[in-house]
Amino acid sequence: MGKRTDFLYMSEPDTIEAGVLDARRCVQVAEEVFALLSRGDYLMGGSNHNSHGMGIVFPKQPPFPNMPTSGPDRRFVAMPAYLGGRFDVCGNKWYGSNAANPEKGLPRSVLTLILNDKDTGEPLCFMSANLISAARTGAVPGAAVRHLANQDASVITVIGCGPINRACFEAIAYQLPNLKEAVCYDMFADKAQQFADWSTENFGIKGRAAASLEEAVRAGQVITVAASRLKPLEFRGEWVQAGATVLLSGSARGDDGFWLNSDIVYDNIKLHEAYVEEAVASGDKQEYYNGVIGGPIYRLIDDGKLPALEKSISLGDIVLGEAKGRRTADQRILFVACGMSVFDVAWGYELYQTALEKGIGQRLTLWDSPRQA
Ligand SMILES: NC(=O)c1ccc[n+]([C@@H]2O[C@H](COP(=O)([O-])OP(=O)(O)OC[C@H]3O[C@@H](n4cnc5c(N)ncnc54)[C@H](O)[C@@H]3O)[C@@H](O)[C@H]2O)c1
Repeated sequence: MGKRTDFLYMSEPDTIEAGVLDARRCVQVAEEVFALLSRGDYLMGGSNHNSHGMGIVFPKQPPFPNMPTSGPDRRFVAMPAYLGGRFDVCGNKWYGSNAANPEKGLPRSVLTLILNDKDTGEPLCFMSANLISAARTGAVPGAAVRHLANQDASVITVIGCGPINRACFEAIAYQLPNLKEAVCYDMFADKAQQFADWSTENFGIKGRAAASLEEAVRAGQVITVAASRLKPLEFRGEWVQAGATVLLSGSARGDDGFWLNSDIVYDNIKLHEAYVEEAVASGDKQEYYNGVIGGPIYRLIDDGKLPALEKSISLGDIVLGEAKGRRTADQRILFVACGMSVFDVAWGYELYQTALEKGIGQRLTLWDSPRQA
């Protein structure tokens, strides 16, 4: 007789019951993960152990009628990880994204996360992960502002007014209690206004919609960027005020000044080294750079205009006290976060533990006894 395997299924409402929307707790967990990253107690995919994930990108002209065609934000990505410390678990986030989804009443990307026993590979929990992913994405700049932003910042700028920036905003707002004004910019004015109203009503931070990217950027002491790729964002360095902290969670373009006038802090240098390795291996480095958040930075590093990645700082080094965060009130800091599955695994695991304690979710059976081949 073999071993019975069952696992927990957590729907989106189950994850809410387990606390997925608790941004303060998620920032604490994210900070723990940053420390583990800098200690090296984790593994992600690929031979370099640091790959963001493995994606399916669709061709511009598919050779078969049913094969999907490339489109804005259209891809599938698997993001596996092992995370050590108290988590000590394996997991994989798997999502499909398509900018056309909202017309069908769906979020742009649809995400699930599975946690597995690190020894046997058995599933422990299969969970809806849209809220997990948004919360952990928000918690990353939330943890970053603790170390990088001027703590008396009163004006936050929001570029791209979708669900990811809502999560970023919420996590940041709890860390910076002096915020009084939120300047919101989106290519759709109604989205910017909705975000501004949401900020005023839910956080008491007076929101207003900005008419242009320039106006929004100029106003921001803390700037959170998470726009999708419907149209490229074109930043200019001269718009960024002294002392500003720019938190890049989505892709952006900029003139050289935008990238060179700030000190860059990375979420994890090893992830960016892996991106560059993958760009070289792809055979078309420039095209690869076009598709990733750090692309414009890697180009400037290749050109010798920015310090090499191995000479740069990861946020985890600052969390561990091994590097300095903000040094002066006037320093401009650019924080680059590309998203790592270790954060999904950590936050998913935390919610799974709560679900076990509180009896949340539904047990499903994989087998009573595995059928022998
Ligand atoms: N770093 C990470 O860990 C991570 C994780 C998840 C998502 N993301 C990125 O965050 C971004 C936002 O995700 P989302 O789910 O909120 O997307 P979304 O499409 O639901 O919303 C993004 C918003 O950006 C706006 N936008 C797009 N292009 C713009 C432009 N040029 N100028 C102004 N506004 C623009 C859209 O109108 C939309 O309101 C995506 O690019 C996604 O890839 C990053």
